[in-house]
Amino acid sequence: MKKLLIDCDPGIDDALALALAGGSPEIDLVGITTVGGNVSLELTTANALALREFYRLGDVPVTPGCAGALMGERVRAESVHGATGLGGVELPAPVKGVSDGHAVDFIIETLRANPGEITLAAVGPLTNIAMAVRREPRIVEWVRDFVIMGGSYTRGNHTPAAEFNIRADPEAASIVFRAGWTVTMVGLDVTLTAVVTEAILDRMRTLGRLADLVVPISQFYGIVTAEGGPAIHDAVAVAHVIDPTLLTCVPAVVDVETMGTYTAGMTVTDFRIDERTANASVATGLDVDRFWKLTLEAFERVGER
Ligand code: BDR
Ligand code: CA
Repeated sequence: MKKLLIDCDPGIDDALALALAGGSPEIDLVGITTVGGNVSLELTTANALALREFYRLGDVPVTPGCAGALMGERVRAESVHGATGLGGVELPAPVKGVSDGHAVDFIIETLRANPGEITLAAVGPLTNIAMAVRREPRIVEWVRDFVIMGGSYTRGNHTPAAEFNIRADPEAASIVFRAGWTVTMVGLDVTLTAVVTEAILDRMRTLGRLADLVVPISQFYGIVTAEGGPAIHDAVAVAHVIDPTLLTCVPAVVDVETMGTYTAGMTVTDFRIDERTANASVATGLDVDRFWKLTLEAFERVGER
């Protein structure tokens, strides 16, 4: 089993990524940390608590982190995820609350206590991770693997040049990419192929009680994106942790544009690494059929609980 810590901002696709992790026997989910992103930190945390109970994830700790970016204005995505972050779906009120402490400390202490064992997946703005790196630079040695959903080498979504998670905190992303580890960058280049088609939606309708969540949030998400159906970005990063053969990844040097008038948050990706040392492993291809097989099987397990 792989020990996985997920830093997230649920968020519709974050919610689906958590279901994938929670329904995968290969994964031991050791913690969920939250960050302000798609919606406020209060809402991303409330959603994480509600999802933990709806998915019956047991005592996996939920620990809130940073509310806003290191610098600059707050960037939100309510138009994509709804005012509360879950497309208007109201889950039962959770019984249990958050764990004591701050996400940044939780990340550091979890990695310190389990050197070489924890995979860290960040699927929201990188504020918590940047703070953790600054506070305890040795986390880059302690982590087993570090994967993000974020960035792109071909296009943006929040702006023409920038993907949302990077645009929401470009300075944090810059710190994270320069921290001295290899960042597996699962960007829009591949996540936009993980689309909820009508056929996938039909499969989701058979998922028992889980269908009450995943169908309406996918439909809500679908209304406001224009890629031929909604792409469940964050789930692709988690799928990579479960089965690294799903993605093709290429070494590259990734730098984050923090200042451009039109390009702030752009992940400038250089595949010509002969003269530079790669700081990233960039996803360039996804086996979409196997991704959905893995994901729907995990959803089935959660729905049967
Ligand atoms: C990313 O932005 C957020 O809106 C999603 O949750 C995902 O993490 C996609 O660009
Ligand atoms: Ca997210």
